[in-house]
Amino acid sequence: STVFVLNGPNLNLLGLREPEIYGSDTLNDIEDRVAARAKQLGLSVDFRQTNVEGQLVDWIQEARTKAKGIIINPAAYTHTSVALHDALKAADVPVIEVHLSNTYAREEFRHHSYVSPVAHGIVVGFGAYGYELALDGLARIIAKN
Ligand code: DQA
Repeated sequence: STVFVLNGPNLNLLGLREPEIYGSDTLNDIEDRVAARAKQLGLSVDFRQTNVEGQLVDWIQEARTKAKGIIINPAAYTHTSVALHDALKAADVPVIEVHLSNTYAREEFRHHSYVSPVAHGIVVGFGAYGYELALDGLARIIAKN
């Protein structure tokens, strides 16, 4: 089974951008670790990043037919995007929302998520390791489906 791992705006700068908040791992490092974990779990991962909101919507729609589940770090669009909310609601596959930082310990504007109400589960504040946690959780959901 294939799982989509979708990453939103500015996550291409991971490792360079505010490392005290987001850690020193790059998105490529995270992709490598997720791929290794996926192999152990017998899953294949399609790992993507974009800075464009509509691109995320297109990929979520693509997941309807091509993926057994979605792990998504929507980054700043988490807090703004009704389009992502609607797309994920229609996705028909389990969705896990991931944030590297604990958004609830940060600015007020990060405390609301348009994605959380349409997510099966949420992994927040575990840094890069959160992606592996999300994959473990999603694998269990897929196995039960
Ligand atoms: C983030 C948290 C968001 O509030 C922020 O806009 C990001 C990254 C995280 O992974 O901690 O870009 O999604």
